[in-house]
Amino acid sequence: MAHILVTGGAGFIGSNYVRWLLRTHPEDRVTVLDKLTYAGRLENLADVVDNPRFHFVRGDIANPDDVEPLLAERPLVASFAAESHVDRSILDPTAFIRTAVFGTYTLMEAARKHGIGRFVLVSTDEVYGSVVEGSSKETDALDPRSPYSASKASADLLARSYFTTYGVPVMITRGSNTFGPYQYPEKILPLFITNAIDDQPLPVYGDGRNVRDWLYVLDHCAAIDLVLREGEPGEIYNVGGGNERPNIEVTRLILDSLGKPHSLIQYVADRPGHDRRYSLDSGKLRHLGWQPRYRFEDAFAETVRWYVEHPGWWRAIKSGDYTEYYRRNYAHR
Ligand code: NAD
Ligand code: TYD
Repeated sequence: MAHILVTGGAGFIGSNYVRWLLRTHPEDRVTVLDKLTYAGRLENLADVVDNPRFHFVRGDIANPDDVEPLLAERPLVASFAAESHVDRSILDPTAFIRTAVFGTYTLMEAARKHGIGRFVLVSTDEVYGSVVEGSSKETDALDPRSPYSASKASADLLARSYFTTYGVPVMITRGSNTFGPYQYPEKILPLFITNAIDDQPLPVYGDGRNVRDWLYVLDHCAAIDLVLREGEPGEIYNVGGGNERPNIEVTRLILDSLGKPHSLIQYVADRPGHDRRYSLDSGKLRHLGWQPRYRFEDAFAETVRWYVEHPGWWRAIKSGDYTEYYRRNYAHR
């Protein structure tokens, strides 16, 4: 029986991981530590809050008073907590740096002090920067180009230094663009799906030819869990979906699956410093025993269906503080 501390467990991937964990590991206990920022929502965990094996703590990974007592119990740790949206990092990087750098430092210090067993830091393919050709390997140089990816690269390097220097058993996963239910509707997929449902324009940045490698959230969760239990301390594992698509193709797929016209596509000014392409070589993780279980087309259709069937979830967000953010961010476009 394992006790797993999930930081950022009220966000998109974290809440899917918690649900998956309670289902696939009926002997495990799960504690979530989450600050409940705009992106963290207890609604994302509504179906597990009454589970006796689940415990929620509201707190900040950058606050030692919140972190210390939890790590003193020496759980396994899967750390998802971060500010995660590139466009927000361009508007104001402050929270990104604070949570990624000071938060990771705080977790690492507590992990070192209490001698915890295993720790996975959930990082991203964006730390490699824009990849013109070929696919990134774990040994490639980092070249983050947005405040978001630079904050993640900083956390990634800091965590690894705690393995090298203090022997804290840290593993790092670098996942690609993830999609699925409960993703905050500021990221391209949920934003475009929900806009399309409402016959609103789909704002495609630049020429729409930027490429992302799409990974279904449950495949990402399984990868993180495998690394948590069986990864080699100090090692980094890429988690790529193997589904590279230009944004415009994904956009058309959304419209077609909802039966909406392509005239909803609206080309807008490009994102500053917009990475052209991400691509991962996931050979190392496959060697550990992981492979994606879901076909992209099926997972994509399932995801579109989830947003169609859960309008209450995303309408509550889109009618709240999100609206102000959206207005500020897109007013000039
Ligand atoms: P998200 O924004 O949906 O969720 C982040 C969660 O972290 C929220 O619940 C938020 O309340 C919490 N949080 C933020 N700051 C905190 C703090 N200081 N203390 C405690 N909790 C805090 O993000 P997501 O898309 O679920 O991403 C989760 C992790 O996976 C992030 O580290 C992200 O960088 C990484 N990642 C995401 C993707 C993707 O496509 N979404 C891909 C690769 C890696
Ligand atoms: P996003 O979902 O923000 O993820 P990331 O920037 O972390 O990859 O964006 C995915 C891609 O979609 C990226 O190339 C930017 C593009 N994009 C748009 O074209 N329009 C949008 O409104 C958004 C949010 C993203």
